[in-house]
Amino acid sequence: IGHIDDIQELRKTQPMAVPDRYVRGMSERPTQLDSAPQSSSMHVPIIDLSKLVGGNENQSHTELSKLSAACEEWGFFQVVNHGIDLGLLEIIEKLAMEFFALPLEEKQKYPMAPGTVQGYGHAFVFSEDQKLDWCNMLALGVEPYYIRNPKLWPTEPVHFSETLETYSRNIRELCQNLLRFIAMSLRLKQDMFNEMFGVAVQAVRMNYYPPCSRPDLVLGLSPHSDGSALTVLQQGKGNSVGLQILKDNTWVPIQVVPNALVINIGDTMEVLTNGKYKSVEHRAVTHKENDRLSIVTFYAPSYDIELGPLPELVDEKQPCKYRRYNHGEYSRHYITNKLQGKKTLEFAK
Ligand code: SIN
Ligand code: FE2
Repeated sequence: IGHIDDIQELRKTQPMAVPDRYVRGMSERPTQLDSAPQSSSMHVPIIDLSKLVGGNENQSHTELSKLSAACEEWGFFQVVNHGIDLGLLEIIEKLAMEFFALPLEEKQKYPMAPGTVQGYGHAFVFSEDQKLDWCNMLALGVEPYYIRNPKLWPTEPVHFSETLETYSRNIRELCQNLLRFIAMSLRLKQDMFNEMFGVAVQAVRMNYYPPCSRPDLVLGLSPHSDGSALTVLQQGKGNSVGLQILKDNTWVPIQVVPNALVINIGDTMEVLTNGKYKSVEHRAVTHKENDRLSIVTFYAPSYDIELGPLPELVDEKQPCKYRRYNHGEYSRHYITNKLQGKKTLEFAK
């Protein structure tokens, strides 16, 4: 990438510029950017994990019904009291911000090769006329070890890699915990997903959205659904709202809840639950004055797993909606196509 292709560099010399490559067609532009605060009924549900893990029977029962309603009706929820050390969340956020603040030359030591999704650069870009997202990203495969590309793990800032390692171990445990409760909420054997997934694949993507002088013309991240089973998203603490989800044909902003993690259902879970739990389309918008950071973990089955709707969730009322397929093939399909709403899920039809 040359200097002008990097929005952070561009902003240093031309803070007002919005190159054509980033300007969206009318139908894609974000409207309602400054809409009045949404009523609380329009907020995604907040799940208290401590009530699921250690609450009395009544509390855990209530929380479990909240969880299943969240997965069915929103495909998104925020989890509080998740048990992850808040200091660790703060440190990973600080290190990610330090990484994006490095000189371009330093970040370019970890280039994302075309057609791949690891390293620093623009993922999911396949042609010269495709619009670019107003976002810089660093994406890394984490687990299992063989998907890692150690050359792409930053050596600067110091402690970045080892902190990411610790962070990922914590997020992995959270995912396994959540999958247990998600299984219970579906009246499945509680270890169903964890056993089925084998050595789960885990990848992380850090998204940095610089301020944009014309947030009404660009998108921080194109609309898409995630290919994962579960996604865990950490929003920067002082962030303004930027993530929006498509609910009943309206883009609903996800509030920044201090110390919470945003969880969403990915395509893989939608397939496994035969459409009961929804992989919901989402996007990111930018802000005139403020930058924004998100740290996103994708958690998915091992690539060699064959999957399809679980027989327990298929019956006359809910006929089978998806075919069986190999998860590795699906992942390849996902990363070799541009982000475009829920289009990738057609692979499973
Ligand atoms: C994502 O969907 O990967 C990230 C969206 C966000 O930055 O909140
Ligand atoms: Fe996403």
